[in-house]
Amino acid sequence: MPDAKPIYVLNGPNLNLLGSREPEIYGRATLADIEQACAERARQLGRKIVFRQSNVEGELVDWLQEARDKAAAIVLNAGAYTHTSVALHDAIKASSVPVIETHLSNPAAREEFRHVSLVGKAAKGVIAGFGATSYLLAVEAAVLLANEGARA
Ligand code: DQA
Repeated sequence: MPDAKPIYVLNGPNLNLLGSREPEIYGRATLADIEQACAERARQLGRKIVFRQSNVEGELVDWLQEARDKAAAIVLNAGAYTHTSVALHDAIKASSVPVIETHLSNPAAREEFRHVSLVGKAAKGVIAGFGATSYLLAVEAAVLLANEGARA
């Protein structure tokens, strides 16, 4: 599929600090390490990725809107906005591109304020709790969904 649309991998607030941020929870891999691993896994599966991070909620909304035309599927780790953002929820709802909510940690096993996911209420599915491997599983799921979409 030479002209296949890419998988967008979008990252929210504080994920730029991975590697040094609470490593006992989030691990030692940096976001650059994760980007490289995602690109490699996608390449093996015949897709490219577009990988971005922002601390700004509206920028993530803009990227979700951009992805409506440009992406085959989206891996989204919205960080803390997962639990608070009606705007991200609405942006996902406004799009027919499948979103895989992704987390390094397992929010269901953490503080109560992390148990609600407004992203999850609009997403296709969730992968959480496997550290950096969550991203690789999410990229695999995204490619499968993208290929299904391409056949449909
Ligand atoms: C996180 C979980 C969120 O609750 C938290 O706010 C984050 C990271 C994760 O990947 O485990 O910033 O999305």
